[in-house]
Amino acid sequence: MSHFFRAEQLVMRFGGLTAVNDFSISMEPGELVGLIGPNGAGKTTVFNMITGAISATSGRVVWLGEEITQFPLHVIASRGIARTFQNIRLFTDLTALDNVMVSFHHKLRANFWDAMFGLPAYRREERRIKEESLELLQEMGLAHMAMEKAGALPYGKQRRLEIARALATKPRLLLLDEPAAGMNPQETLELVGLVRELRDKYALTILLIEHDMKFVMRLCERIKVLDYGYTIAEGTPAEIQNNPEVIKAYLGSQTHA
Ligand SMILES: Nc1ncnc2c1ncn2[C@@H]1O[C@H](COP(=O)(O)OP(=O)(O)OP(=O)(O)O)[C@@H](O)[C@H]1O
Ligand SMILES: [Mg+2]
Repeated sequence: MSHFFRAEQLVMRFGGLTAVNDFSISMEPGELVGLIGPNGAGKTTVFNMITGAISATSGRVVWLGEEITQFPLHVIASRGIARTFQNIRLFTDLTALDNVMVSFHHKLRANFWDAMFGLPAYRREERRIKEESLELLQEMGLAHMAMEKAGALPYGKQRRLEIARALATKPRLLLLDEPAAGMNPQETLELVGLVRELRDKYALTILLIEHDMKFVMRLCERIKVLDYGYTIAEGTPAEIQNNPEVIKAYLGSQTHA
């Protein structure tokens, strides 16, 4: 069991529905793990429990040696766990740059009065945040779109902007919820390389949900499969691709759809 990050026997019940049952995972620093499964399998619910967006019915989340299970959302974020959302959440009327800068402001060191009166400490801080935000946009291939409204960006770029916003909080654990959704094959391919680069550059550990199997199989070193809230398989991409339970779960979901 990892002392870095682990979830133990997480359960989430919504009324009579058990959305997630007995979910456990252990991750070492730098790992890139995939979480897959048919629609409604409970994947996003796992992210919601880890980040404190909802409070788990039972189970534990341990992060850097400390149990964070029932900690509030913002405390968990400040401890270095960030996420992106399946349904993109950006300030659509703000520029791409401002979207990233807003994320940085949660970490502002200058105090209220400095900000209020535009004192030098605050202006210095603002300048630093702007520079770092532009660097992040550059990293994500969005520098040339910094002054465009987020809502006007093509879908694939909005997904990248979400990642930039998550990175602005300086996470060590990054949870990506369907980062390739809505991207074309070319964009998806580029995202594989980009996620690897980000992992190395920012020393990230990454858990990601994705329906695009090519993307998951290319990128992830290890994959967990959920179906109706249960973990039905875990292994390397090759093991998962040949697992009869997994094939059955996906075929079943296609017949339902
Ligand atoms: N806040 C909630 N209240 C009630 N039911 C919920 C809530 N959130 C999720 N659920 C239900 O829990 C189950 C798992 O949902 P979840 O969003 O985690 O699935 P998912 O694996 O992320 O699916 P998808 O691939 O479609 O995003 C679904 O049946 C969903 O309707
Ligand atoms: Mg989901």
